[in-house]
Formats: sequence, structure tokens, C-alpha cells
Amino acid sequence: MSKTIVIPEQFAAILVAWQRRHGRHALPWQNTRDPYRVWLSEIMLQQTQVTTVLGYYQRFLERFPTVSELAAATLDEVLALWAGLGYYSRARNLHACAQAVVALHGAEFPRSSVTLQTLPGIGRSTAAAVAAFCFGERVAILDGNVKRVLGRVLAFDGDLASSAEEKRLWNHATDLLPAEGIESYTQGLMDLGASICNTRQPQCLLCPVADLCAARSQGAPTAYPIKTRKLKRGRRENWWLWLEREGQVLLQQRPATGVWAGLWSLPLYEDEASLQSAADGLGAKLEVMPRIAHALTHFDWILHPRRAEVTSSASGSGPSGVWVARERLADYALPAPLKKLIA
Ligand code: ADE
Repeated sequence: MSKTIVIPEQFAAILVAWQRRHGRHALPWQNTRDPYRVWLSEIMLQQTQVTTVLGYYQRFLERFPTVSELAAATLDEVLALWAGLGYYSRARNLHACAQAVVALHGAEFPRSSVTLQTLPGIGRSTAAAVAAFCFGERVAILDGNVKRVLGRVLAFDGDLASSAEEKRLWNHATDLLPAEGIESYTQGLMDLGASICNTRQPQCLLCPVADLCAARSQGAPTAYPIKTRKLKRGRRENWWLWLEREGQVLLQQRPATGVWAGLWSLPLYEDEASLQSAADGLGAKLEVMPRIAHALTHFDWILHPRRAEVTSSASGSGPSGVWVARERLADYALPAPLKKLIA
């Protein structure tokens, strides 16, 4: 695909003016040039909406006001604060990144996007966002929202499933950068993608760059960007054993890889018979709880919880794990559906 794309000259100027007037200015990670705060927000905002991030962001900063304090924490504590945000590799990388900043950079975040990208969990777009917001570096971002905005403005017809085409869009994103106002421009792209230029029903009548938008002039804004590779969603079903013993719940830590890696969960079984045989020695009656449907990136997970009260004397013959008092459960990193179930 070698078609040249006409780059609208006024694009950046209009976007910057629009952001200053209509964009977001009061988010808790704005109005600061502290790379720790900006980095933390950018990691949390990957795949997660602003409204969900707000509470987590505040709790994280209260517990870990600086990168050194985050680096000194245990991974378990970081995971416990992250629990419910999903995509837990982000939390592991967050912790590893804080430790790398302390160990390799004297507890100061590097100031260039190129060096930021060498840190765990910081990809090209996140590095660019931090460098632009904190250090004014003139560098392009290209997260999912921005791919949509630029894909449409340019009517970019390459398939973004191809890394060569993605690279081509990166080059266009770089060509569009303004000479000044990189902070407002970068935030403007994010704000436009998060509000007006949404996936299914773009609000072109409200869009400041509608007149420059090639996809709109074709009458087909939602035809862009093009991405052919479709995730084939799977479905999994498991049985979950919720054991209580004198106000304590039995938790097991998940393996270090895979779904909910490192989080604390209930004993999980492939089928009802396996759960039943694990519970057999307990002499307790299993209570059937309503099933839970939990959507993950690659599959829908159906969980069938079964609850039982056991006595201290019987609990030794059941599954192994850690007995945790109900009021201490908040100290453990629990996956979101388990938090809901126990509440
Ligand atoms: N999503 C990613 N980064 C963001 C930011 N700085 N503000 C709002 N939403 C975002």
C-alpha cells in the first residue's frame, strides 16, 4: 500500500485550540509534570476507562506517594491494590518498572521517550505520552483511541493487523505533530478519541476536525481504521468452592502465569464432580450459588460457585490453602468477581 495521504495542515492547530477550550483539564493526573503520577495514570488507563481508574489512582498515590515507595513494596501488596482493574501483567510490570527506575535511574524517570521505552511495561505510545506531558517532547502517541482518530481523519486504508501498516500510521502520526503545544495536542487526541470520535457512533456534528476528516468526506467514518484479525472468543466453565470456617474463607494463590496470575482465588475445579469429591471429606452441605459470567479478553468465563460451612475439625480433609478472616480479605488481591461474590 503506497498511496500518499494528504495530511491536513490545519489539523494540529484546530485540535490544540479545541482541547484548550473543550478538552479535559481537571483529571487528577493533569496539571502536573511529575512523571511518576503521569506514568501511573497512563498504565492504569490502558484498557481501562477514566471513571474506573479514578479511585484506584487515588488509593495508589496515597499508599505509594513516590516511585521509591512503590519499588519498596511487595508485589503482593501492589497486586492487592490493583485487584479489580484487570490485566494484571500491568501491575507486575508497574512494580518491576518502579524497581528499575530506582535501581538504574536513581529514582528519577528518564526524560526521553526512547529511554522510557526500555523500562518494563512502557511501550512506544505510553513512553511518548509521559515524555510529551512531562518533558514537552515532540513525539507521537498511537494508542487504540488515537489509531481510530487518525485512521479516520486520514482514511488510512492499511490493515492495522499488519505491523508494516501500523508502522506507516506511526509515521503519519509523527508527520502531523505540531511545532508547539504538544501537551494540548496529545491530550486533544485522547479527548477526541474518548468522547466524540468513538468506535460505533462518532459524533461528527460536534467534531472540531470534521471538515478535514477524509473518512467523513467519504461518508464512512466507522469504516476506519481497518483491522482484519478478529479475536475468536472462547468460553470456559469452572466450578468454584467457597469454604467458610468460623468467619474465615479458604483462599488459594493462582499460579504466576495465566488468568489472574498471582491473585488469590477460591479453589477452582474443572467440573462439578471434581469439586464434589474435593468437598466429600468435609461432611458439609454444598449450597448452590447463582452462576457468574465474567468476560476476559479471549474468552467468557462461566463460574459456578458452591458454598459450604465447615468445622475446624473437618477442614483438614478439604482442599489446601490459606484461611483468611473475612475482615482481612481486603488485604489480599482478589479478582473482581470474587470480591462481588463475597460482598
Ligand atoms: N487515556 C490515556 N491517557 C489518558 C489521559 N492522559 N487522559 C485521559 N484519558 C487517557
